[in-house]
Amino acid sequence: MRYGARAAARHEARLLWAGNPGLYALLQAARHTAPIQRFPRIGWVVTDPVLARRVLNDAAGFGMSGEGGVGHLWAQLFGPEMGALFGGARHAELRARARDLFTEEGARTLVERAQGGHYRMLAGRLADGETVDVADATRVLAGRLVADLLGMRLDSPTDDAYRGIFAAGERLAGLAMGTTASTVLPAERIRRARAIVGDITRGVEEGYRTAGPDTILGRCREMGLGLPLTRGLATLLAIAGTETGASGTARTVALLHDTGQQAALLADPGLMPGAVREGLRVTTPAPVIGRAVMTDAEVGGRLLRAGERVLLMTYLADNAVGPFDVRREYVPETRQLWFGAGRHLCLGAAVARTQITRMLETVTAAGPYRIVARRPARRVLVPAYSALRVRAEG
Ligand code: HEM
Repeated sequence: MRYGARAAARHEARLLWAGNPGLYALLQAARHTAPIQRFPRIGWVVTDPVLARRVLNDAAGFGMSGEGGVGHLWAQLFGPEMGALFGGARHAELRARARDLFTEEGARTLVERAQGGHYRMLAGRLADGETVDVADATRVLAGRLVADLLGMRLDSPTDDAYRGIFAAGERLAGLAMGTTASTVLPAERIRRARAIVGDITRGVEEGYRTAGPDTILGRCREMGLGLPLTRGLATLLAIAGTETGASGTARTVALLHDTGQQAALLADPGLMPGAVREGLRVTTPAPVIGRAVMTDAEVGGRLLRAGERVLLMTYLADNAVGPFDVRREYVPETRQLWFGAGRHLCLGAAVARTQITRMLETVTAAGPYRIVARRPARRVLVPAYSALRVRAEG
């Protein structure tokens, strides 16, 4: 490994350790095991990208709603109907209705409308020689995106208000921590989670009544989804793309710097899609995906029984091909496993890619940039920077 690659890997390892020591330990333990292996108290652990995709593509055999799946967590907060939205015909209908909001073109429009001005402001500050905290900016930007997607009307749309939206989503996601061994939530956690949901979805009732058809809330109304389920979906969106998006964006800025590869990108802007893809692959902001085994199934020569759980270690699967390299070709084994696969493949993939692209364009607009300080976030669901201060080399 070159020095830059080693430094980058060290910073990434520190983030994982500081953010989620349990996850870090599991990743270390699973790193050198068989492609699929059974762990006491945890269940099946898959580290191979092809086997992971095989599980994700078999929606009948591996569900989200049973113990071990994220739908199980949501059903405890919003009732069984919400759990049911994670599979079956209703899920397919929802995705089909929302699809055009999340195409490449839809993503560009959304990101420009919700965040465009903020990127320009950041680029201006860097050009003026100021130091910018990219990690903080990604939280503000994520709050802006959620507010726009959900048609929220903020009393005072300040950076602090947007940070507040991010923080509420982060607190809610934090309540899911410690569910690696079981997704059954204790009553106290459910109570706290419902209070946060109430906070995040304050504006949803009005939005559900009045938002236009080009918004998620308007689409929910047109489908006759009902207010409770719409609140559930709004919460899901507020969480799904928030921490993951912020984490992936700031970490890609750091990787590009730490590996010394920003010079290559500056010399050839055509490398941008590769830089974004590599950032997503190496950071894999959703490092583990859980599923419940619904029917007995054979995976990689092992027999998985109905009722068991399986954890797909996407972080390990994605990273197996090697370190961050903006010139790396598309890797067919992993495809875009960082966004999952199959019927739950990330709906916001184009939005996530657009956000990272916009941020990389922003930090390189005034030439090479330098990281002057950084701090990992502690005890978070998604490993991330709490601060990443950069300035233009000038
Ligand atoms: C770097 C950023 C992101 C990453 C790494 C990421 C990753 C993922 C992954 C792995 C899944 C599948 C989970 C599973 O199968 O259990 C997923 C689902 C989802 N993501 Fe993302 N995501 C990101 C950003 C976003 C954004 C920005 C949005 C919305 C604007 C979003 C919306 C969703 C939704 C709605 C789902 C559920 C889809 C379904 O169940 O049909 N994501 N994401």
